[in-house]
Amino acid sequence: MTPDDILADLLQKFFRKAKVKLPSSISVLDVGAGRWEYAPALLGFLGKCGVGKGKRDVRLKGVDPLGAQLSPKVPEGAAYHPVDALDLDEHDAYDLIFLIHPFPDYRLKEHGLPVHPPATFFGKILSLAKEGGYVVGVAYGAPPEEYALFSQFPKEHLVLMERYADEQATRLDYGLGRDTYHDNMVLIGRKRRV
Ligand SMILES: C[S@@+](CC[C@H](N)C(=O)[O-])C[C@H]1O[C@@H](n2cnc3c(N)ncnc32)[C@H](O)[C@@H]1O
Repeated sequence: MTPDDILADLLQKFFRKAKVKLPSSISVLDVGAGRWEYAPALLGFLGKCGVGKGKRDVRLKGVDPLGAQLSPKVPEGAAYHPVDALDLDEHDAYDLIFLIHPFPDYRLKEHGLPVHPPATFFGKILSLAKEGGYVVGVAYGAPPEEYALFSQFPKEHLVLMERYADEQATRLDYGLGRDTYHDNMVLIGRKRRV
């Protein structure tokens, strides 16, 4: 199993558990995309998951205010913008919004980035999602303060928050000599009409 396989396995397991159903054509936003090493794997997974032998049309956009310094890997057909998600001027635009390994407040401060109150941050993320769209948070290799943000996700839109406890992933962590997946948290939310 490679780290990309693990990401796909993690998403597969939690999508199934949360009964995530995606249409045949989707708009996807990755908030805090960073170097975007996993973007090709994410595109590959979303293009295939739940479509049998067919292929889903996926429009993927990554945003990260540090993007200009990070030389991100942008797969063909995807887009990357070096901006803060809170500055996006879109509404009800995305079927799926990812938040992969978000910075906790102390890391935001270290990088001179704004710290948005969780209610403001998640309110904006949910405003970007279509009604019925999903928010998927993945914290990996993360001490609890790095996923404390997830516990502030609005309960009325929360579907699940659980750990990914795959033994192979844990073994891979130790094999690579780094904490990649064994200390993690996964969040799935869904924008509901409230
Ligand atoms: C730990 S990195 C994770 C990068 C990538 N998702 C990964 O897993 O490799 C967190 C990223 O979130 C970005 N970020 C922080 N606040 C953000 C915001 N309000 N909007 C968009 N990106 C943000 C940071 O600049 C940083 O690159």
